[in-house]
Amino acid sequence: MSITDYLPAGLFKARTVFVTGGSSGINLGIARHFAALGAAVGICSRKIERVNAAVAELCALGGAVFGQAADVRDAAALQAAIDECGRALGPIDVLVCGAAGNFIAPAEAMSVNAFKTVIDIDLLGSFHACHAAFKQLRQQKGCILFVSAGMSQQPHLFQSHVGAAKAGIDNLMANLALEWGEHGIRCNSIIPGPIAGTEGMRRLAPGEMLEAYAASIPMQRLGNVEDVANAAVFLASPLASYITGTVMVVDGGQRLQGSAFFNRGAKQIIAEQGKTK
Ligand code: NAP
Ligand code: COA
Repeated sequence: MSITDYLPAGLFKARTVFVTGGSSGINLGIARHFAALGAAVGICSRKIERVNAAVAELCALGGAVFGQAADVRDAAALQAAIDECGRALGPIDVLVCGAAGNFIAPAEAMSVNAFKTVIDIDLLGSFHACHAAFKQLRQQKGCILFVSAGMSQQPHLFQSHVGAAKAGIDNLMANLALEWGEHGIRCNSIIPGPIAGTEGMRRLAPGEMLEAYAASIPMQRLGNVEDVANAAVFLASPLASYITGTVMVVDGGQRLQGSAFFNRGAKQIIAEQGKTK
C-alpha cells in the first residue's frame, strides 16, 4: 500500500515542504511522502553528493525538487538554502527539522565538544531552521514538524547529549507554538521509536541486538520509515489544523516498557568499545 491509497495524491499540491537532514533515513522518507502527495520538496544536508542522490530519488516522484548543501549549525548557510528554496519552489508551507547526530557515549567519557556537537546540530540547528523560515511560514500560515526522539522523555544510558538536545527541541516546539500561533503557524514534534534500516538504529542497536529489540516492543516489530512519514503528513495536513504544541509518539508502544532494554544493549556496546571506566 502507498500513502496515496489513503490520502489524495494532490493533498499537498502547490505546497512547499523543506526538510533539514532530508538526504537519508526517516527525513528522506518524510520528504518522499510529501512529494507523493503533490508537494514541491526542498532538502538540505551537509554532503552535496548525498543531497544530489536524494534529489534524484525525489524527482522520480514527478514534482519539483530543490536541494542544497548546508550544515544546520551554520545559520547563514541554512538561511541561504531556505531563501533559495522559497525562490525556486514558492514559499515554504511545511518545515521539517530533522537533521541530527547521535552516538553512544558515557557522559564522563565524551569531550565537552562531543556534547556540544549534538546540541548544536539537533537543538541549535532546529532553531536556526525555524528562525530562517519564519517569514515564509508566516506568509503561508504554515507549520513546523520537529523530529524528536524517545530520549526527550525518558533517560537512556549514554545518551545524555541526545536527551538534552531532544528535550530542548520539544520545549522549543511548545514555545514556538505559543508564540507563533497568532501567525497561524502550528508546531508539533514527532518521536519515532526504533526505526528499521536507519543510521540511528545502526548506531544504537547494531547487529543481533535489533531482533531482540523488536521482540521487546509491544507491537512486536520495529517501526519503518513510512510509519513516521504517515504521522508527518497527518500533522501537516488540514486534518490537524487545530493541533499545535503536541508531541506525537510513533513507537509501537516502545516507551511503555521504559529504556531498560535499550540500556542493556548500550552497556554491551560500550563494554565492547572498552570505553567504560
Ligand atoms: P540519518 O539517516 O543519519 O539522518 C540524519 C540526516 O541529517 C542525514 O541526512 C545527514 O546528512 C543530516 N545531517 C547530519 N548532521 C547535519 C548537519 N549538521 N547539518 C545538516 N544536515 C545534517 O538518521 P535517521 O536515523 O534517519 O534519523 C533521522 C531523524 O530521526 C533524526 O532527527 C533522529 O534523531 C530521529 N530519530 C531516529 C530514530 C531511529 O530509529 N533511526 C529514532 C528516534 C528519532 P549529511 O550527513 O549529508 O549531513
Ligand atoms: N563517542 C564519543 N565522542 C564522539 C563520538 C563517539 N562515538 N563521535 C564523535 N565524537 C566527538 C569527537 O571526538 C569530537 O569531539 P573532540 O573535538 O573533543 O574530539 C566531537 O564529537 C565532534 O566530532 P566530529 O566528528 O568532529 O563532528 P562532525 O560534526 O563531523 O560529526 C557527529 C557529527 C559526531 C554527530 C557524526 O556522528 C555525524 O555526522 N552524525 C550524523 C549522522 C547520525 O548521527 N545519524 C543518526 C541520527 S539518529
